[in-house]
Amino acid sequence: MNTKTTVAIVGLGKIGEVIATNLAKGNQPVILASRDLEKATSLATKIGSLATAKPIAEAIREADVIIPALYFNLLQEFFKTYAQELAGKIIVDVSNPIAPDGNGGFKKIIGERESSGQILSQLIPKSAKLVKAFGTLGAGSLASAAFNQPERKVLFYASDNTNSHQLIEELITSSGFEPFHIGGIDQSIRIEVFGDLHEFGRLGRTVTREEVKAALAHA
Ligand SMILES: NC(=O)c1ccc[n+]([C@@H]2O[C@H](COP(=O)([O-])OP(=O)(O)OC[C@H]3O[C@@H](n4cnc5c(N)ncnc54)[C@H](OP(=O)(O)O)[C@@H]3O)[C@@H](O)[C@H]2O)c1
Repeated sequence: MNTKTTVAIVGLGKIGEVIATNLAKGNQPVILASRDLEKATSLATKIGSLATAKPIAEAIREADVIIPALYFNLLQEFFKTYAQELAGKIIVDVSNPIAPDGNGGFKKIIGERESSGQILSQLIPKSAKLVKAFGTLGAGSLASAAFNQPERKVLFYASDNTNSHQLIEELITSSGFEPFHIGGIDQSIRIEVFGDLHEFGRLGRTVTREEVKAALAHA
């Protein structure tokens, strides 16, 4: 990974912590940011010397790539609050537009044919670029399937911005996975919960590149 590239993870809940931990395991320095700086500092201590804790605005200013590991319905406000800091940056959207359905399951909170990737790509600050990634597996599988031997499992990503592809692919590789570009942001719906390529969708499991090719060949 190009050491000059800096990554900030904002929101250190279940998925934020796993993404940070995997990246550090792959020797990628990470900036951790939370509403509670102490929480970020203690996670940085737990992860090790490659993790640094910073206030949210400072973390975003310093980073090239920002991963806001927040709920879908908080992201519009987040983009507004940090519009200046986020301008020109690469924003990685991990969100799944879902909420508990009251029967122990989950329901989609946007239109059937809509995706959070497409909606958010219209809401990001000017000159920022959105990439849909790191939300295609549950936090448990993202942790347990990282650095899989002998063959890495894939992490799908969707992006229209070819300039950011190499960087995102390096991030996914540093996280212990094999990057797999499935197309533009209009393909986000396939890699969000209930999508045919999501762990909590038709695919239903982690897969290798060969298995993806087979799955896509039969789709
Ligand atoms: N959990 C999964 O398996 C999984 C898998 C794929 C994608 N995702 C997606 O990842 C995102 C986060 O999910 P999660 O499971 O990690 O949730 P979580 O464990 O509840 O963490 C969410 C984090 O968001 C921050 N947050 C919560 N309320 C906030 C508020 N009002 N304002 C600002 N920040 C707030 C908090 O971080 P701080 O306290 O550090 O500020 C909290 O730790 C969601 O969009 C979800 O769809 C989750």
